[in-house]
Amino acid sequence: MKNQTSKQLEINLGQRSYPILINPDGFDLAAIEPLWSGKKVLLVSNDVVAPLYAEAVIDALEGCDVKCCVLPDGEVHKNSTSWLAILDAMAAHGMTRTDLLVSLGGGVICDMTGFAAASWMRGIDFIQIPTTLLSQIDASVGGKTGINHAQGKNLIGAFHQPRAVIINTATLNTLPAREFAAGIGEAVKYGGINQAQFIDWLSTKQQAILEHSAVVLSELIAQCCAFKVQVVEQDEKEQGVRALLNLGHTFGHALETATNYQGYLHGEAVALGMVMAAELSYQLGYCDKQLRKTLENLLQGFGLPIKLDKEITADQLVRLMRLDKKVQSGKHRLILMKGLGQAFIETGVEESDLLNAIKACT
Ligand SMILES: NC(=O)c1ccc[n+]([C@@H]2O[C@H](COP(=O)([O-])OP(=O)(O)OC[C@H]3O[C@@H](n4cnc5c(N)ncnc54)[C@H](O)[C@@H]3O)[C@@H](O)[C@H]2O)c1
Repeated sequence: MKNQTSKQLEINLGQRSYPILINPDGFDLAAIEPLWSGKKVLLVSNDVVAPLYAEAVIDALEGCDVKCCVLPDGEVHKNSTSWLAILDAMAAHGMTRTDLLVSLGGGVICDMTGFAAASWMRGIDFIQIPTTLLSQIDASVGGKTGINHAQGKNLIGAFHQPRAVIINTATLNTLPAREFAAGIGEAVKYGGINQAQFIDWLSTKQQAILEHSAVVLSELIAQCCAFKVQVVEQDEKEQGVRALLNLGHTFGHALETATNYQGYLHGEAVALGMVMAAELSYQLGYCDKQLRKTLENLLQGFGLPIKLDKEITADQLVRLMRLDKKVQSGKHRLILMKGLGQAFIETGVEESDLLNAIKACT
């Protein structure tokens, strides 16, 4: 460990193990030089992040034959057109199975770069350089890659682990405040799943987090990555416990689809989805009313939404939830809570229950 703000974690998945390096400044690619040295590299970013950080990353990849693929920004572009653009850029760069993709951006870029890496020549190496809080604590770690389909979010994808995750927390200083808050939505999720004490920690550190204290941010990111690592190590391909990471996501994906990915940011949708999950847990008798209140207070303190936008109806959301990958025989599989930090998988939720819970969150 270099100083108080530099941290290193390892995700242990046998041959697919990799380091997660957290630094307060700079892109620590020197630490993983064997992964990129002497290779052709395609750096995938977007038109917001590339002007800010691509040059620094290219400098850090000294001696590599690097080309850039700069995509249009936004969740609306997390689609097959962008994915094909990455593959076209790889072809133009003459990349082989031993070359390397590097993502530079938020979760959208991480997911699409990972999916391009998974599909090019049946799978090549890639490195994640996440630049939003959400992607630093969640999207860059764990190997879920993919793109959206018009029918729903992340319907096309693959499990493909990166070879390293390089986090430069200074990139968060250019992140819009609303995007930063959205990242907190995913952080609260970890607390809701199985880390009640982390909810207390987030409440205590709220001011320092909002002021971007480098020490606190580094601690926040390391704690979240450690939670995610623990879950992914137990269940890499989401056969069981990893599904808990979807707390708030089934409602959240429907919220994103309902607004064509333009109403709620992903982390905002997850935050509101968690409130709905807490309400449903209460209505089904699994927990008391206070759980929803505690979550709402914390989320609201970070500027996250806790009520459904008037333009979306409960019926519309439930219709969209039918398309979710987790619906089986008309019954919904959702992550509910028995209390803070006590999430569990509930199969067999009826649509009428979903409707009632959503209506109580308007
Ligand atoms: N694979 C997974 O396990 C996983 C987990 C959670 C979320 N996700 C996915 O992540 C996506 C959401 O990620 P996100 O919230 O990072 O959104 P995003 O990638 O759209 O980034 C948010 C915005 O911030 C901009 N940006 C990024 N870094 C910046 C910086 N340092 N300075 C200034 N602007 C910056 C982006 O260009 C974008 O406009 C969703 O598609 C979601 O499905 C995936």
